[in-house]
Amino acid sequence: MEHHSIIILFHPNSITVRGLEQENVVPTTQFVATFIKRVDVVHRMPEDRSMSVFGAILKRRTCRKFASQPVELEKIFEIITAGTHAPSSGNLQNWSFVIVTEKPKIRALYHHTLEQEAFMSAPVAVIVCGDNDIAEKYYGLRGKRLYTIQNCAACIENMLLAAETLGIGACWIGAFDEEKIDAMFTIPATVRAQAILLLGYSEDEPEPKEQKRIENLVYFNTYGQTLKKPYLVYRDYSKEWELQLAQLKQKWADVKRETNLPSPTIAKEKTEEFFKETSKKVGRFVENLKDEEKVRRRR
Ligand SMILES: Cc1cc2nc3c(=O)[nH]c(=O)nc-3n(C[C@H](O)[C@H](O)[C@H](O)COP(=O)(O)O)c2cc1C
Repeated sequence: MEHHSIIILFHPNSITVRGLEQENVVPTTQFVATFIKRVDVVHRMPEDRSMSVFGAILKRRTCRKFASQPVELEKIFEIITAGTHAPSSGNLQNWSFVIVTEKPKIRALYHHTLEQEAFMSAPVAVIVCGDNDIAEKYYGLRGKRLYTIQNCAACIENMLLAAETLGIGACWIGAFDEEKIDAMFTIPATVRAQAILLLGYSEDEPEPKEQKRIENLVYFNTYGQTLKKPYLVYRDYSKEWELQLAQLKQKWADVKRETNLPSPTIAKEKTEEFFKETSKKVGRFVENLKDEEKVRRRR
């Protein structure tokens, strides 16, 4: 059983959940009925929000198969609230959301989204809209073409992370017929449907995904300039030791070849020189490590 506290006020014709007029938000009696059914426990513990941001980022995966269990309206609002806390150009917050809970409507979306199977099981779809007009008014074409998209993308990512934290699966849908969606939800011309977010309790087992390595994506100071030893950033010195060891081995082989010379004096000199050089090198390396550690501790 989930644990969270909710305040429910019953009025003659409506239900207020946490101060939100639910009737205004979700007009379907079906959803209200489901909601009432779930409100069987009055006192619940606060939801666990202890997952770290990094935990949610690393754990989040796209969900494309959902359980039939409906998502609590409270959770949908929490997810959207998280979205609205995203940064936006000039704090325009030029986003809005259409929550779709009516099954026939969600299933109809299937036909306007390249027939993506996820729509067949999702109990909720949220259409994230961006208001281009406001962005254009303040920031011209750049606002209209770029900022609204970026604002909404930041908002959506916040929503995905919030969903993950609440134990709700989510799918970001970008492939859809905009005209059909605009008509279906009477979205005004100044507003653009940016994405559809499917939400629901997950029944998906996503395949492990390939992740590009950061060192192949990050440049320093100039585009294309990569870090030569990226592992040192993570203080992974084992690679450095391996490298140094390989160099030493090579050098040792060279020394041995040279010390095959008939003169034992030269052989002795060469061997001593090698050891002296090697111990200096290792000493320097260890000193560097210590300095780095000191700097790290001071931070
Ligand atoms: C702009 C954008 C559009 C996307 N459109 C779709 C989509 O139409 N259908 C879908 O199933 N997934 C869609 N996704 C989800 C990606 O396929 C998914 O994030 C990606 O494969 C990485 O998998 P992960 O989310 O599990 O890490 C979209 C993601 C983004 C950012």
